Amino acid sequence: MIRIYRAKDYQDLSRKAANILSAQIIMKPDCVLGLATGTSPIGIYEQLAEWYRKGDLDFAEVSTVNLDEYIGLDGAHPQSYRYFMDTNLFRKVNIDRTQTNVPNGLAQDFDAECRRYDELIRSLGGIDMQLLGLGHNGHIGFNEPGGSFEKGTHVVTLSESTIDANSRLFEKKEDVPRGAITMGIKTIMQAGVILLIASGEGKAQIVRDAFWGDITPEVPASILQLHKQLIIVADEAALSKSPVTEDYTVI
Ligand code: GLP
Repeated sequence: MIRIYRAKDYQDLSRKAANILSAQIIMKPDCVLGLATGTSPIGIYEQLAEWYRKGDLDFAEVSTVNLDEYIGLDGAHPQSYRYFMDTNLFRKVNIDRTQTNVPNGLAQDFDAECRRYDELIRSLGGIDMQLLGLGHNGHIGFNEPGGSFEKGTHVVTLSESTIDANSRLFEKKEDVPRGAITMGIKTIMQAGVILLIASGEGKAQIVRDAFWGDITPEVPASILQLHKQLIIVADEAALSKSPVTEDYTVI
């Protein structure tokens, strides 16, 4: 079953998705949140920080595991995902930083780091709710088209299209790392609830392909059709090529 919330615009999307994450934290204060980077979740993190400042949300017992990290960037690098999380969310709320986890992009032994990360998720009792953005080519985390649905955390070589898409955040394309460490599709599919967000016309085709098309490794997000509790929050622009006419639809 897929529940789809249609938001008017990015601000509405951020608010609706933040509400769902807040509900998870309120229901289970010591929950494990799987978090995502990219530009799409920035508004959600702003909204959560605002509710924290107002005293409506408490992160004291929350643990987090992030989806992915670039290889070769340390946590102080402004384009690293650790830095992104620290600046967009963790420093703005009362989360215990030792309970926040991002794969180590500078690990000496990447196989060991992947095993450590999967073991960490297991030892936390699994992910209660996983937030996901959607790459233009259908990637989730950094699981690129053509990969396997069966993998846990692993190392990937980024596709040319992902390097192109993400180069907007770097000074020049050559600065974009060529590799990343990412939770695998298997890791992601084991989360209790998946909350996927998509914003803007640029995502309209891939939203349609991923959720109304065939389930295929060529469109990694399409496997989410088989998840028991998938929630999609997308704005009208991102849903403009999909058969969604209501503000709330179940398919
Ligand atoms: C990156 C991240 C993904 C993210 C995707 C989409 O490649 N690894 O987790 O979902 O970009 O990013 P955006 O939200 O900026 O479109």
